[in-house]
Amino acid sequence: MRERAIVFEGVHKSYPLYYHITGGFKNFLFNFPKSITQFITTRYDVLKGVSFEVLRGETFGIIGRNGAGKSTTLGLIAGVLKPSSGAVTVQGRVSPLLELGAGFNPELTGRENIVLNGVLMGLTRAEVVRRIGEIIEFSELGNFIDQPIRMYSSGMLARLGFSVVALLDPEILLIDEVLAVGDADFQKKCLSKMMQFKKNGVTMIFVSHSLKDVEEICDRAVWIDNQRIRMLGPAREVVNGYKRAL
Ligand SMILES: Nc1ncnc2c1ncn2[C@@H]1O[C@H](COP(=O)(O)OP(=O)(O)O)[C@@H](O)[C@H]1O
Ligand SMILES: [Mg+2]
Repeated sequence: MRERAIVFEGVHKSYPLYYHITGGFKNFLFNFPKSITQFITTRYDVLKGVSFEVLRGETFGIIGRNGAGKSTTLGLIAGVLKPSSGAVTVQGRVSPLLELGAGFNPELTGRENIVLNGVLMGLTRAEVVRRIGEIIEFSELGNFIDQPIRMYSSGMLARLGFSVVALLDPEILLIDEVLAVGDADFQKKCLSKMMQFKKNGVTMIFVSHSLKDVEEICDRAVWIDNQRIRMLGPAREVVNGYKRAL
């Protein structure tokens, strides 16, 4: 049996619901001590009892509407979020390509951010420096690489982000929607890089609005709906199920 890279066991994730006052503000004041307790203890559930496994070397897609909990799931895998209950187990080094520019310092140049990110991912500075030429070439950022990244467009940030995580030997690669902001040529280049990773046995978790890409690249996929797993199985079946429900 193939080794498991990621295991979710009955994972719940909720956030405090600070802004939600049931019954209006007057009612809130009128029922005062009781309402304040309710106010503090009310929580908004993002994931309710989610369980799945990703095997080593698998390419696994996550689909679902906006706000379904896809990015939250990736955050839990990356360890930047903790489950409210249940367990998340990850075996291997995670290279997260999460929201645009997360982990980048706007005042540093593209080049400096590459080194910073590589080190944050657990590589030595020497390892990063050895690979930096290749990373810059892949990014096609040209002279912009020595400009502070606050001058970058969202497409340029996506180029930098993908190049860093993709060229530093990822073991478990998390990709959240970032390809959507790049231009068509760069998207194609990223997708072919991902196909190469697939052949080389890199574990990938892929969140994308492009159902076609999910179907083409992923072995299996999960559809998250209403805080729960609605469907889990071969990517094509899950994508088709999701399309039927739209
Ligand atoms: N830090 C946070 N505090 C409160 N609510 C959050 C936070 N992050 C995400 N959420 C809520 O959790 C839900 C799921 O978000 P997310 O995982 O980003 O969805 P998706 O990536 O599928 O669009 C959304 O309703 C969002 O508003
Ligand atoms: Mg998201």
